[in-house]
Amino acid sequence: MIVCKSTAELDQMRLAGKIVASVLEVLESRISPGITTKKLDEIASKEIYARGGRSAFLGYRGYPASICTSVNEEVVHGVPGNRVLEEGDIISIDVGVEKDGYYGDAAITLPVGNIGRQAQELIDISKQALNMAIKQCKPANRLYDISASIQNIAEKAGYNVVREFVGHGIGQQMHEDPQIPNFGMPGTGPLLKQGMVLALEPMVNMGVSEVVIGKDNWTVTTFDKKLSAHFEHTVAITNDGPQILTQL
Ligand code: MF3
Ligand code: CO
Repeated sequence: MIVCKSTAELDQMRLAGKIVASVLEVLESRISPGITTKKLDEIASKEIYARGGRSAFLGYRGYPASICTSVNEEVVHGVPGNRVLEEGDIISIDVGVEKDGYYGDAAITLPVGNIGRQAQELIDISKQALNMAIKQCKPANRLYDISASIQNIAEKAGYNVVREFVGHGIGQQMHEDPQIPNFGMPGTGPLLKQGMVLALEPMVNMGVSEVVIGKDNWTVTTFDKKLSAHFEHTVAITNDGPQILTQL
């Protein structure tokens, strides 16, 4: 069942979303060669708490950190640790926050110093896939219009979407119905309605779509070890069009 939120609830979710956005902004300013992913986690943990929020990830199914940091061939759910970021890396940072019972969830992929042209192109296309998907978030469209849009943009650029992980509804839980695959048939799936809130999260691989889960039981990496990028926003469907809740 897809839960529709009242406008008052959307305002609540916007508060959670703004914390997510400001934490991502702080983290972006701290990305540079030499910093560890654990340091990023510490910064995020403090910043979330300072804004009156709580990490939605810490303790979720035993997840051991406040954010996810996925470097290069890591797709999602990278666990912060002693890894030192190096010039030329790309890093996906995923932040989820609960504030007063409502959730926000967003991710960005960033370059570490100067990166190669191909890596930058992967980031640009993945970001574009999210932005175009957001445009599909309007009443009378169907859920898999969103999925198809993401798939289309990624595949036209010669990339592949990850099929084993999906976007999701979000609200008083971090994960609500529906699941939102990053591939699908346009014109199919549930009708989108005022008050639905969706966390769209394209995961785009430079090589094959297959992924593997690491020994830590969290970190998802590409099967062929090629680069992967990930962007996410929490988006409300309204009669006035899409509203991105995870922005300042
Ligand atoms: N944005 C991811 C998701 O929606 C992050 C979850 S990480 C976890 O599933 F640790 F909380 F699982
Ligand atoms: Co999510």
